[in-house]
Amino acid sequence: NKVVLAYSGGVDTSVCIPYLKQEWGVKEVITLAADLGQGSDMEPVREKALKSGALESLVINATESFVKDYAFPAIQANALYESRYPLSTALARPLIAKLLVEAAEKYGADAVAHGCTGKGNDQVRFDVSIAALNPNLKVLTPAREWGMSREETIAYGEQFGIPSPVKKSSPYSIDENLLGRAVEAGILEDPWIEAPEDVYTMTTAIANTPNEPEYVEIGFEKGIPVSINGETPDAIALITQLNEMAGKHGVGRLDMIENRLVGIKSREIYETPAMLLLIDAHRDLESLTLTADVAQYKRGIEQTYTQLVYNGLWYSPLKDALDAFVLSTQERVTGTVRVKLFKGTHSVVGRKSSHSLYTPDLATYGKEDVFDHQAAKGFVYVWGLPTRVWAETGRK
Ligand code: ARG
Ligand code: SIN
Repeated sequence: NKVVLAYSGGVDTSVCIPYLKQEWGVKEVITLAADLGQGSDMEPVREKALKSGALESLVINATESFVKDYAFPAIQANALYESRYPLSTALARPLIAKLLVEAAEKYGADAVAHGCTGKGNDQVRFDVSIAALNPNLKVLTPAREWGMSREETIAYGEQFGIPSPVKKSSPYSIDENLLGRAVEAGILEDPWIEAPEDVYTMTTAIANTPNEPEYVEIGFEKGIPVSINGETPDAIALITQLNEMAGKHGVGRLDMIENRLVGIKSREIYETPAMLLLIDAHRDLESLTLTADVAQYKRGIEQTYTQLVYNGLWYSPLKDALDAFVLSTQERVTGTVRVKLFKGTHSVVGRKSSHSLYTPDLATYGKEDVFDHQAAKGFVYVWGLPTRVWAETGRK
């Protein structure tokens, strides 16, 4: 009877409002739009929900939690799906699900709803996250069931005064927040065609980037980014500034064919400058501060972690257990990484830490060398013993 609907202001979620009321007999639709730092004015979104028939239109700014509770842990886990995509969209879904559940409980709704289609990852992330947070809430998914084409959806909405939106000039499906943009559909559906320049808004085309490299020093404390060039902006400002600095040099673009959980391959264009920079810098600092075995073992944990988050299991027992592992590895991941931004590339060119395990006395080839070369002789003999026996046996 009372439903909290995840709302974006787009056609699909707008059409969900009259659809829930007319077709499914829902009495009260409360919409919830999450401001996750996408940088657009939320007031028109708030008003549009009311015009489309919502009883109440909530706008919740959760950007700070998004960065601190979702993005930062993902950085500590070096989370790159299929070794490339820093989960900018995937990380937002469990947070929106949490906001939905909280609102449903506050307003006494018996269900929540979202406008995801049945072909994507996002439906999985919403449904599973909601179930994890409150298994008693029903999840209504009109867009998964109405079977209307895009044109039919628009026509249906027009009956209820929902303006048909998408200008023919912007034929993309875009999801954006502070961490980045994910763009698909339109001409991008042909994986052979290069993404036109108008797809990108956070990153400069290489042809127009500065001809001089820029260096940026990123400071981490226990695996969390805390400073840029010695300044300590708050978490949101830190991401914003790095997006701008990296974006200016054309850093942060991804063009990938990715494997969705539902078995479909999709072509996606991403712009995630700060996240790519931070994960690379963080991983480099780990290489300085983690022991070899922890660093190597963590790679496998990271892969599983990333897979879980991509596949909608942010709130799950395995994810909790992996979080505990990751967190315990971050105790000494404190230090500074110097990154060079130039013509679409970001390269780590320096790193330092008070917890550095890099020991110049051991590493040097100079006369300061303290490594015991004699000790190596016996070690190598024992290390190679099985191979030696195997080879000797083979000769008989
Ligand atoms: N495929 C990406 C993911 O699963 C992003 C999808 C976002 N939606 C979009 N319209 N581009 O995280
Ligand atoms: C959707 O269909 O909801 C967007 C794409 C995705 O979830 O992967």
